[in-house]
Amino acid sequence: MQLIETRPSMFDHVRSWKRSGFRVALVPTMGALHDGHLALVSRASDEADVVVVSIFVNPTQFGPGEDFDAYPRDVSADVDTLRRQGLASHVFAPAPGEIYPVWPNRTWVEVKGMDTTLCGATREGHFRGVVTVVSRLFAVVQPDVAVFGMKDAQQFFILNRLCEDMGFATRMVGVETVREADGLAMSSRNRYLSDEDRRRAPCLYAAVRKARSLILEGERNVRVIETAMREELAGTDVDYASIVDTALLRPVDTLRPGMEILAAVAVYFDRARLIDNTVVTVPVP
Ligand code: PAF
Repeated sequence: MQLIETRPSMFDHVRSWKRSGFRVALVPTMGALHDGHLALVSRASDEADVVVVSIFVNPTQFGPGEDFDAYPRDVSADVDTLRRQGLASHVFAPAPGEIYPVWPNRTWVEVKGMDTTLCGATREGHFRGVVTVVSRLFAVVQPDVAVFGMKDAQQFFILNRLCEDMGFATRMVGVETVREADGLAMSSRNRYLSDEDRRRAPCLYAAVRKARSLILEGERNVRVIETAMREELAGTDVDYASIVDTALLRPVDTLRPGMEILAAVAVYFDRARLIDNTVVTVPVP
């Protein structure tokens, strides 16, 4: 497995892969790799001849007071993890100046409207940072396929819209959330949880499972479903427990047959804010 650290070197590799007719998959990450990331790499290796994992802690998606400085960084441990798995062929780990040659950054990419609900309501500018960095990674790696985890479903749907609206040739693939034995979604931020918060954290999964089962049992009133999700989260500091449509991430009141919705929750614990979600297609009677 090869480590690439500069844009010119990445361009050289991409040129030679394209000349050889290889299909390229990109798995964008911020490092601190866990089994959830490895599931993305595994899926990427089913989709392409060359699998590039990018590792870049993107400063523009962290707001003031968020954990940019504290975010875990250990590229050599991540490279070892990927080497042991044996499915990625290249790691792209650029220095900040490779992605943001001009700082403060001037050129932004935004998907308006979809970035103000759910996490966007409290993390102003977060998705603009994500969309900007992913656009730049796509410009450098020129992937045929990009693989993302569905734990960050809002991110996935926003990036999907980016690709459609910009006509990018990259196909987006979303991989189901990988969970601990008790249902907690794997996340690099789980390591911040105290023992007590770790015991309480599976309530996020309980809340989204509740939403799914109510919808599949026939409940169509969104307020009833959101209240039931909040009941599962009782005793925690809930940021949101909401249902939105997956097309534009707009709040919905009533579920109609055939509609695809995202039921999503976010909870603040002492040192971490965790999210979880489920995508459900409302059954047609
Ligand atoms: O999901 C993440 O880890 C990040 O938001 C991403 C997509 C790598 C962009 O920095």
